[in-house]
Amino acid sequence: MSYLVLARKWRPTVFENVIGQGHVTTTLKNAIAGKKIAHAYIFSGPRGVGKTTIARILAKALNCAKGPTPSPCNECQSCKEITGNISVDVIEIDGASNTSVDNVREIRENIKYLPSHGRYRVYIIDEVHMLSNQAFNALLKTLEEPPAHAIFIFATTESHKIPATILSRCQRFDFKRISLKEIQNHLKVVAEAEGISLTEKSIYLIAREVDGSMRDAHSLLDQVIAFAGNDVKETDVVEALGLMDRALLFQLSEAAIDKNGQECLKLIEKVYNFGYDLKKFCQDFLEHIRDMVIAKTVKEPRGVLDLPDSEIEDLKRLANKVGLLDLHLVFTLLSKGYEDISRSPSPRYALEMAILKIAHLENLQSISAILESLDKQGSGKSEVRPAPAELAPAVVSRGSEQWSSLLNFIKKEKPPLASHLEIANLVSMDGGVISISVKNGPYFAYLSENKKVMEQLCNDFFGKGMTVDIKADDSAGSSLKQKEDDKIIKEAVKVFGGRIAEDRRRVNV
Ligand SMILES: Nc1ncnc2c1ncn2[C@@H]1O[C@H](COP(=O)(O)OP(=O)(O)O)[C@@H](O)[C@H]1O
Ligand SMILES: [Mg+2]
Ligand SMILES: [Zn+2]
Repeated sequence: MSYLVLARKWRPTVFENVIGQGHVTTTLKNAIAGKKIAHAYIFSGPRGVGKTTIARILAKALNCAKGPTPSPCNECQSCKEITGNISVDVIEIDGASNTSVDNVREIRENIKYLPSHGRYRVYIIDEVHMLSNQAFNALLKTLEEPPAHAIFIFATTESHKIPATILSRCQRFDFKRISLKEIQNHLKVVAEAEGISLTEKSIYLIAREVDGSMRDAHSLLDQVIAFAGNDVKETDVVEALGLMDRALLFQLSEAAIDKNGQECLKLIEKVYNFGYDLKKFCQDFLEHIRDMVIAKTVKEPRGVLDLPDSEIEDLKRLANKVGLLDLHLVFTLLSKGYEDISRSPSPRYALEMAILKIAHLENLQSISAILESLDKQGSGKSEVRPAPAELAPAVVSRGSEQWSSLLNFIKKEKPPLASHLEIANLVSMDGGVISISVKNGPYFAYLSENKKVMEQLCNDFFGKGMTVDIKADDSAGSSLKQKEDDKIIKEAVKVFGGRIAEDRRRVNV
């Protein structure tokens, strides 16, 4: 028995079986049912998403013995011939190899003839943007006065190369890439029907390689089966498709989070020796960090991340080791690293530098820690060397930045709590302790009641155990504190050589 490649075997034969592209199939079915068939269509979109497939189903729908019908029977002579690609009434032309005006003239000659046994002569011209200008002009003449029995379907991956005069005479459908989820679901169905055992992870590995193309999904699955037979293991998929092991992403991020520079270098060497494109790797790593942020912040990450459950669990575990702000900073550094890698004559070293920079990120310093050290310095006790002047604005603003980022985060998770916190004063943020003060009264009572919730949210935000200390304050004390603060800030400005751009402290109510 000859082996039929999956793409051909699984080519949908009715509109209902086409995956995605609902906007196209629904419109076409309605048009057929309402007998409002256009004479020329443009099917534009990436390769392998169903353009030829739908063109053939449309041809069948029009010429089916039981038609025109939105549901071709696939059993009559016409349907069978179209499926077998031997119908004389459905002419498929490759625009890429028939680009000349003569080719189009030939079409114009032939189009006069009535269909042999169908109702329509359907011309499917693939890659139509490859036609020469002269050929387009000749085609235009036909499109201006098409015979009643002629239907044109122009498929293209580059619709912008088609002259406007042609476009304006066609009904246009933009085909979409097929979503990762849809591809995964389909591969599952195919594997089951074909008796292939394939884990969820393996399916994911194949699906993420194909960039929305179902044809590629089929042919990669073909490759994997040819390599491994019917019992496919994840390692088979990785080997057959020459994939980088995704475990490396997790190992590298973990090593960076654990500040294990040596391990980071070892892993980068592994990626490098594997021959994997480092720019692509950096892209994958960016995606991985993005996934981590989602796993950390979204309540139901499964709905957003098209990843196997096991990877989502791993992401959550890793993300819990770091603060949200740190992840954002990592993403920024990595984006910068990506540019460096693209430009560098030694991409490997550029990648190493980017990852090492991330691995040695200090936890973001809180403003209180800085002010505290300044305070000591003022009284001659300081051990801390002042930061270079150009760094000062960033460092000084970071504590209040961190506080307002935290408030923003809480605002999303628990808005009423955030609005109460906005009234409070931040006294200090020191390691694992956040001290706030608020005037004794209803706000104080509310915040005290919600201390546990607040701590949990701070915990989520910073990625470590946090304690929140709430003090009931009276205004006299607070103005005293404010005076102290003013002194410290003046000191900071002197040391750093900056200036006060904005005072974000709030006065007690
Ligand atoms: N939307 C889809 N639904 C189901 N299978 C599809 C879809 N798009 C493509 N395929 C599969 O890929 C193969 C090639 O698709 P095709 O329609 O020729 O793509 P193109 O858009 O490049 O014309 C089909 O035989 C079919 O197996
Ligand atoms: Mg095609
Ligand atoms: Zn039929």
